Amino acid sequence: MEELAGRVAVVTGGASGIGRAMAVRFRDAGMHVVIADVEEAPLAATAAELGVVGVRTDVADSASVQALADQVVERFGTAHVLCNNAGVGGGGVISSLTLNDWKWVLDVNLWGVVHGLQSFLPLLLANDDGGHVVNTASMAGLTAWPGIGPYNASKYAVVAISETLALELAGSRVGVSVLCPGVVNTNIFQSQRNRPEALRNPQRNPGARAANAQVTSMSGIDPSVVADQVHDAVVDGRFWILTHPELVEHVEHRTRSIVDAAHR
Ligand SMILES: NC(=O)c1ccc[n+]([C@@H]2O[C@H](COP(=O)([O-])OP(=O)(O)OC[C@H]3O[C@@H](n4cnc5c(N)ncnc54)[C@H](O)[C@@H]3O)[C@@H](O)[C@H]2O)c1
Repeated sequence: MEELAGRVAVVTGGASGIGRAMAVRFRDAGMHVVIADVEEAPLAATAAELGVVGVRTDVADSASVQALADQVVERFGTAHVLCNNAGVGGGGVISSLTLNDWKWVLDVNLWGVVHGLQSFLPLLLANDDGGHVVNTASMAGLTAWPGIGPYNASKYAVVAISETLALELAGSRVGVSVLCPGVVNTNIFQSQRNRPEALRNPQRNPGARAANAQVTSMSGIDPSVVADQVHDAVVDGRFWILTHPELVEHVEHRTRSIVDAAHR
């Protein structure tokens, strides 16, 4: 999508972090921007501050995402750029996890993307002036890190969905990008704030506590740097968005171990 001005961008998880930065970047490019988020107060505050539309949405709930799409159509007629970005990070080694730990992360990070595609892809494909899907995965979608099993699983799935979609939409007017950041300075390490009551553990498990204690000490790049790269990838029609080139050696190592195993 070379021309963004006047078109419509929808960003899930737009009240905070990377989503908020993408909303700013697309607004500054002259787009109509809708941010969708489950957290009501930050959503209202961010929408007012940025001068964009905010729609309370739970991406884990297909009806909620369809209601978002219906509101976008009612207001703007269609959507052009869909950023399936809402996500949560849960910690804990696999042997310590509960089914609720798995369900919460997969509901948001995996099903959120599926719901977004289900409700918005028909709109993008029907546009004469095309569209673009940006799915937020992670470097954890390209190489697995210990202590975040459900997160790794969800992000590998988002990469696979994005690769499949890009193959299926090749030659169409709808482009696809997958965003795989390393650490970005956001509120991701406070993700438990958005965990539904029904999926909380009766007792917070010690494995999760230890993993969360580790990850909260990490610091990364500014979300605006990521948003600039997302903007450029949409305009240039690039699939991979890798914000941390220094981490790509982990992907090389993984790929080499697979290839080596085949030639053993
Ligand atoms: N921050 C990082 O280091 C990093 C690295 C790689 C990938 N990511 C990915 O970036 C994306 C954005 O995360 P962030 O780092 O900006 O974190 P963040 O917590 O600052 O923002 C995430 C937003 O998603 C919203 N959200 C959570 N559950 C939701 C739901 N069910 N429905 C709708 N909205 C929901 C939150 O309220 C929040 O506003 C996520 O997919 C995350 O996995 C982040």
